[in-house]
Amino acid sequence: MNTNAIGVFDSGLGGLSAVKQMLKAMPNENIIYFGDTGRVPYGNRSKDTIRRYAMQDANFLLENNVKMVVAACGTVSSVAPDLEEALGVPYTGVVLPTCYTALRESKNGRVGVIGTTATINSHSYKTRIQLKNPNFEVFEQDCPLFVPLVENGIIDRNDPIVRLVVEKYMSALKNANVDTVILGCTHYPILKEAIADYMGKDVLLIDSGKETALYTKKVLSENGLSNNSDEKGTAKFFVSDTPDNFEKIASLFLSKDMKNQVSQINIEEY
Ligand code: DGL
Repeated sequence: MNTNAIGVFDSGLGGLSAVKQMLKAMPNENIIYFGDTGRVPYGNRSKDTIRRYAMQDANFLLENNVKMVVAACGTVSSVAPDLEEALGVPYTGVVLPTCYTALRESKNGRVGVIGTTATINSHSYKTRIQLKNPNFEVFEQDCPLFVPLVENGIIDRNDPIVRLVVEKYMSALKNANVDTVILGCTHYPILKEAIADYMGKDVLLIDSGKETALYTKKVLSENGLSNNSDEKGTAKFFVSDTPDNFEKIASLFLSKDMKNQVSQINIEEY
């Protein structure tokens, strides 16, 4: 048993989709979350920059003695899949757990993947799926406007702007008759209702945050690192810009009051 926290990071709010599921799946685990709100978005930056940011994010978490690092970020997972070698603690990104679920759940072998531009250009999900099953057809679409919508709290399924942007990005996948769509950026589950409204109930949407939370639980257990205490765990939140906006949207998304619950750090020091 290990009571140290699980360290989770993302470029901003997106990784909260993993935290939300971790709180459900592992209520007794402690969590430390870092959202790099001062440098979001990562998805349209170069590989080198994304890797440097990811190392700084992980170093901050390691300094807080986390027992595992979770890159709850499709972009980092796609561009820096080998981060674990540098960390010295178990590590996961979101690509692997999400692909396993798509391979298991798709009936017609036609899978859509949506993600940031860096994620889609890396073909990380497509490569992983086709390595396991070359008969799968994978249709990729980047959705660069989704992250700014989420970071600005424009997430209501009935908002005409949300509906329009969803249609713009999802229409090609709908026409391709996919039966499964991987929400390959952790910001996207926050728009899941709007995406589901457009794709229809027959299309399965795979939440990268949820699959990653379940996979994290498995890795902890396999490594004898689970926290088996009966006490409810704590969650601490850090960001690299002023916390106000993060607190507001996190309160909505996690359905709990986050006011004065988020601290600002200087990530350039790590
Ligand atoms: N939530 C992230 C991802 O999964 C980051 C998006 C971004 O910063 O562009 O890709």
